[in-house]
Amino acid sequence: MNLTFSAADVEFTRSWWSLLIKDDTHLNKWLQKLQVTELAGYYDNLEAIVKFKRDINSNTRIQELLLRTASDEKNHSNMLVDILADRGVPVYSDIEADENKSLFWSELEASIVDIRTMAAVYYLGEELAAFRFEIIYDNPSTPSDIRRFIEKALPDEKYHARGYLMHTSDEALTSVISQYDLVVNKLKGFV
Ligand SMILES: [Fe+2]
Ligand SMILES: [Fe+2]
Repeated sequence: MNLTFSAADVEFTRSWWSLLIKDDTHLNKWLQKLQVTELAGYYDNLEAIVKFKRDINSNTRIQELLLRTASDEKNHSNMLVDILADRGVPVYSDIEADENKSLFWSELEASIVDIRTMAAVYYLGEELAAFRFEIIYDNPSTPSDIRRFIEKALPDEKYHARGYLMHTSDEALTSVISQYDLVVNKLKGFV
C-alpha cells in the first residue's frame, strides 16, 4: 500500500508549474510559502517526538528519522531564505493566509491518533513534496536557483517518504489515504 499518482495528476502539476515559472510575482510568492512549509516541517517533526515520547522510547529508529527529517527541513528552509534574499523577496510572515493548505493539513492532521497514523500522514506529505519536486526538476525552464534547491531537497524528501512508510501500517495508511482523497475532493468542490 502506498500513494499513487494518476496521469491526470502528472499533467495537472506539469501545467501548473510551467505557468508558474512564467509569472515572477506568483513564483516568488510560491517560494515564500514553500519556505514557511519547510520550516513548519522542522517544528512538526520535533513536536512529534514530544507528543509520542512514550512510543518513541521503545523505537529509537523513528526518533532518529524524526530528528534527521527535522534537520533536513530546517536546511531546506535556510536554502529558500537564501534564494528569497538573492531575489530581493522578503520572507513570508502570514502563514494563515494560505487557507487551502491550512484546511488540507489540519484535516489530515486530525487523522493522527498514534505513531502509525503520524507516520502515514508524514509519509503522505513527503511523497507529495517529492512528486511535485520531481516535476519541477524535469522542466528544462525551471530557474537555476530553484533547480539547485531541488537537487538537494528531492533526495531528502524521497528518503523521508521511504522512512515514514517503514514506520506506518497498512491499516493506518489506508485510513489516512481515504481521508486524503476526501479532503482533495472537498478542495476540488466535489463534496
Ligand atoms: Fe523539505
Ligand atoms: Fe521532507
